[in-house]
Amino acid sequence: MKLLKATQGAVREAATVIRRGGLVAFPTETVYGLGADALNPQAVAKVFETKNRPHFDPLIVHIARPESVGRLSSGADERALQLMDAFWPGPLTLVLPKEEVVPDLVTAGLPTVALRMPDHPVALDLIREADTPIAAPSANPFGCLSPTTAEHVRAQLGDKVDLILDGGACRVGLESTILDLSGEQAVLLRAGGVAVEDLERVIGPVETQTSDPTRPRAPGQLPRHYSPQTRLVLLEDATPPVQPNEKAGLLLFKARGHQEGFAAVEILSPGGDLEEAAARFFSCLHRLDQAGLDVIYAEPVPETGLGRAIMDRLRRAASRSAKAGRATGRS
Ligand code: TXA
Ligand code: MG
Repeated sequence: MKLLKATQGAVREAATVIRRGGLVAFPTETVYGLGADALNPQAVAKVFETKNRPHFDPLIVHIARPESVGRLSSGADERALQLMDAFWPGPLTLVLPKEEVVPDLVTAGLPTVALRMPDHPVALDLIREADTPIAAPSANPFGCLSPTTAEHVRAQLGDKVDLILDGGACRVGLESTILDLSGEQAVLLRAGGVAVEDLERVIGPVETQTSDPTRPRAPGQLPRHYSPQTRLVLLEDATPPVQPNEKAGLLLFKARGHQEGFAAVEILSPGGDLEEAAARFFSCLHRLDQAGLDVIYAEPVPETGLGRAIMDRLRRAASRSAKAGRATGRS
């Protein structure tokens, strides 16, 4: 494994790795991706192996220009064009009817393909330089915390990757919003970096699932996901927090009192800004996860805008057997 600062030379080298069927971890504005040539089934198979990802869970295909959609899907209608216009490059993934050129392994046999044009110069250069669409899940073992720095990737996947491009910390910090446009009604499959409210301003009402995590619409959205190794308990509200103790950590939305006695405290956004909270979310969780704690207590965030995506991640992270004090027990 090679870890390189994402200079032009390094990106060229990474593109060669992709063209030869290897794996490259690269930065996007959302999280780091584990990339392979989307049109090469053998390369794509390595992604599944490396992540220990079940084959029923399809991958997002990343492209460098909107014009590339036509080759991969013939189903981009007026809604898709409007959304691409408004949010690409950016943290929005569109699920559209797939063309035959997309290997079944990429889409897990589904008749649809998930497409996204990331808003990151390194990701875009890599795709252009490799001259092929790049299939990329988040660069973490299946079910674990998503990486928002190159160091997170190194720590979690290390030698299983041919090359890691270090492009610094991810700006958005949460995965892309996934919207299914393959049917008449636009359906939200995953809350993410673009707020649903913003999508609706462009195309009108979007069907959002209830937060019933036992009925995933995107095959990979299992109840337990985005999880630290440490048990995470989602608190029902901010006050009062659970009994402090030296093996417990606290994940707070904003700065406030009641923190004494905890072994580690992370504040997502001192001023209570949801965008900042999203950008820092996975880094805070990675740090707490490495602090040798028995339990992490997480305070809920307001469920508007990006807050919806943060709460989705927190609920899944807590989905084990969280029962303690005033905690919500989700299984
Ligand atoms: O921000 C992101 O989307 C990041 C960066 C690297 O682009 N990628 C990412 O990929 O989060 P991943 O594999 O961790 O999550 C992709 C999700 C999975 O839940 C998968 O089931 C869903 O997208 N998905 C992919 N193709 C789909 C399809 N054709 N229909 C429905 N869901 C799909
Ligand atoms: Mg993921």
